[in-house]
Amino acid sequence: MKIIDTHSHMYAEEFDEDREACMERAIERGVVLTALPNIDRSSVEPLKKLLDDFPDQTIGMMGLHPTSVKDDFRSELEMLRAELEKRKYFAVGEIGMDLYWDKTFKAEQEEAFKIQIGWAKEMELPIAIHARDSLPEIFKILDIEGTTGLSGVFHCFSGSEAEAEKALTYPNFYLGLGGVLTFKNGGLDKVMAKFGLDRLVVETDAPYLTPAPFRGKRNETAYTRLVVEKLAEIHGLPAEDVAAVTTANAVKLFQLDGI
Ligand code: NI
Repeated sequence: MKIIDTHSHMYAEEFDEDREACMERAIERGVVLTALPNIDRSSVEPLKKLLDDFPDQTIGMMGLHPTSVKDDFRSELEMLRAELEKRKYFAVGEIGMDLYWDKTFKAEQEEAFKIQIGWAKEMELPIAIHARDSLPEIFKILDIEGTTGLSGVFHCFSGSEAEAEKALTYPNFYLGLGGVLTFKNGGLDKVMAKFGLDRLVVETDAPYLTPAPFRGKRNETAYTRLVVEKLAEIHGLPAEDVAAVTTANAVKLFQLDGI
């Protein structure tokens, strides 16, 4: 079984004590590739170190996370844009809007998102969207900016059926499903039962959003397997089939040559 974790922060300090063991466990559980989204200036070096330490097991993204958008976002963007041009990155991410924690910089978040959509179009890279409590705003921006020639993933999708339908009207976009799918009473399993696998990819968002039965503990990239197994249960399919389809989708999303 070959699984791609399309969103994981394995470079985070939560893994400083046992990162190598975590990366080994990922392989043991069939997670052959992990895509690493950036947060801001401070995460660039740890991210690059992980890319260099595990070149066959990781791919990187570069971008400014909405919760790191503050007054100084333009200088952050300048630094990250320079980094994006320095080495091969497979997506602009993670970018978007987060209106759950703090709405102070809502206008700046919008501006930063639009600028980074522009980078993605210019560099022909997909975008990894963070849309916490902000799907209506994200849709509005995508509709205004236009998605012709743009591809991407709604990372950690946990919206309604109507929101999933709307997201999938953008032809080259995927829904990224993680631990939330496994949460009891979360309702996402019922929503996703109505959609096929053809536009889905899987992820962990490690160290956050740990799937059942480990909910509340630290998440790690190996647990992508649990998301694949949950999707298999929802659709009454063998986990191997779910892994094959979602991995093929991730290969398309990140324009990988095959793994
Ligand atoms: Ni993330």
